[in-house]
Amino acid sequence: MKDNKHITMGIESSCDETAIAILADGKDVLSNVISSQIEIHTVYGGVVPEIASRHHLNNIPFVFDQALKEAGVSLDEIDEIGVTAGPGLAGCILMGTAFAKAVCAASNIPLIGVHHIQGHIAANFVEHPQLKPPFLSLVVSGGHTHLIEVKGYNEFKILGCTRDDAVGEAYDKVARVIGLGYPGGPKVDKLAKEGDPFAIEFKRVYLEKDSFDFSLSGTKTAVINYLHKEEQAGRSVNKADVAASFQEAVMEVIINKTIDALKMTGYKDLAIAGGVASNSFLRDKLTNRCKEAGVNLYIPSPILCTDNGVMIASAAYQKSKLGLKSDMHLDVYPGLNIESGLAKLDAK
Ligand code: KG4
Ligand code: ZN
Repeated sequence: MKDNKHITMGIESSCDETAIAILADGKDVLSNVISSQIEIHTVYGGVVPEIASRHHLNNIPFVFDQALKEAGVSLDEIDEIGVTAGPGLAGCILMGTAFAKAVCAASNIPLIGVHHIQGHIAANFVEHPQLKPPFLSLVVSGGHTHLIEVKGYNEFKILGCTRDDAVGEAYDKVARVIGLGYPGGPKVDKLAKEGDPFAIEFKRVYLEKDSFDFSLSGTKTAVINYLHKEEQAGRSVNKADVAASFQEAVMEVIINKTIDALKMTGYKDLAIAGGVASNSFLRDKLTNRCKEAGVNLYIPSPILCTDNGVMIASAAYQKSKLGLKSDMHLDVYPGLNIESGLAKLDAK
């Protein structure tokens, strides 16, 4: 298959998806295998770390074989292997990094540790080759809500982040209290289409003037309090209105702050990333707001928004072009900071 192509494998295991992908020249997806554990964790209403890491241990060899097979690539054709080294669940990241280190050591392939959020942002480079740093990125996932200046392919500045719940986490909790199950984000997104976004006025938290931080737990608590109040009064609740009103409140704050950050920094390119970037309301609203503001908006396809190996391969490809790689000292970093912690991943 090689034909002088640069082949990168990406391995992602930081939460409940065991994912391995193969990318050619940083843009052609040759395979994208994702083994989801959603059904396993649904009975617990959320991801159970110990169970998740055991499933990674069992799944990884099969996902690896399938990724190679679907891509039609042999191990000796791979130029580097990128792997998520943090942030995420320690035991889960450990499964991916231990596997990657073993394959790299056995086959003499360069190893590249990748920051998970850097991977989410890099998903945009695969489908939008015209996008180049510097630009602004809004990262919205189950564990993160960040406004980040992407200054270079391996250089980031955090403008703001959540002080409590991540947006996906808030979606998942609201879904649980209105009885939609796990993972709640896509279910709230779907149900909200049938509801009135202005039916209930849920709290919006903007924090201090000029702050690009977020606080989303207040809006989530407002939903819980509303449901209790209605239940105690014996009134029936319109779940679609609750979903739509919650979504309107949370996204209003996120979108307004993103537009303010674009004005403040002067960037004309915005890339959104992370599982919640597949939310249809956010995609539609931001498309309109960016058009009004004269900003180019980049969004990955939904399959590249939620956790996947392509995004890790894309980030690893960019790191390899910068000459950055890891060595067998690569550790796992559950709380890795994207602004100050990236050097920890690279060989000294
Ligand atoms: O990026 P991701 O796969 O994992 C993390 O790195 O956290 O994001 C998963 C999160 C979950 O909270 C899920 O409910 C949320 O993304 N999500 C959505 C949608 N699709 C996934 N939230 C809102 N609307 C969606 N359509
Ligand atoms: Zn993620």
